[in-house]
Amino acid sequence: MKKILSSCALLCTFAITTLLCLNTEEMNPRQSAPQEKVDQPLPPKIDLGKNSQELTLNNKEKPMASNKAAIEPNIGSDLPNREQVGALLNRLLADEFVLYIKSLNYHWNVRDLYFNTMHEFFKDLYEKQLTFSDDVAERARALGVVAFGTAQEFIKHSQLKEEAGVLPTTKEMLKNLLSDHEAIIRSMRMDAEKCLEYEDIGTNNFLTEMINKHEKIAWMLRASFEQK
Ligand SMILES: [Fe+2]
Repeated sequence: MKKILSSCALLCTFAITTLLCLNTEEMNPRQSAPQEKVDQPLPPKIDLGKNSQELTLNNKEKPMASNKAAIEPNIGSDLPNREQVGALLNRLLADEFVLYIKSLNYHWNVRDLYFNTMHEFFKDLYEKQLTFSDDVAERARALGVVAFGTAQEFIKHSQLKEEAGVLPTTKEMLKNLLSDHEAIIRSMRMDAEKCLEYEDIGTNNFLTEMINKHEKIAWMLRASFEQK
């Protein structure tokens, strides 16, 4: 009798264990079944409207090696025109930045009876030059053109000359700056005309404003030489 009872107990234990295992598999099917591949949802398409250009993402292009933007500007000005205007702007940027460095040099190295006045005057000029440089570079970027960003490019493409190792007098500093501002103004006048040929009224307007700013500085520099 004892043997029968023992066998029954063993059978019951086996049955309960089997049922529990089956139940566990039902509750967690992923643990026992091989995992199926789940397709990742695609990103939503960007609708840019009927008149928009197709998105051209050139992942293989190195941004600094190309004048092409990842998304071409759709501003009514085609790429060849924008590249021509961009070249004008980069030459202007080179001039603006060289003049920034020259003004900074004069701020540091001026020696004058009225040192503080001249030191502050040159500070005002180099700060303006840095702002001008930034504005020109950003105008080029707005056209989808890569802006110059190295001293090598600035020196190579600027029409302005530096005088390394030379320490001018205050009067010579003022004359040098006047000459450089006027050279930039003359170039911008021609470039503003060319912008109209390239059908870029925005850059034409930008250069017109820049001419006014440089002309004001040129006037202040010129006034330094006027006698009462
Ligand atoms: Fe300073």
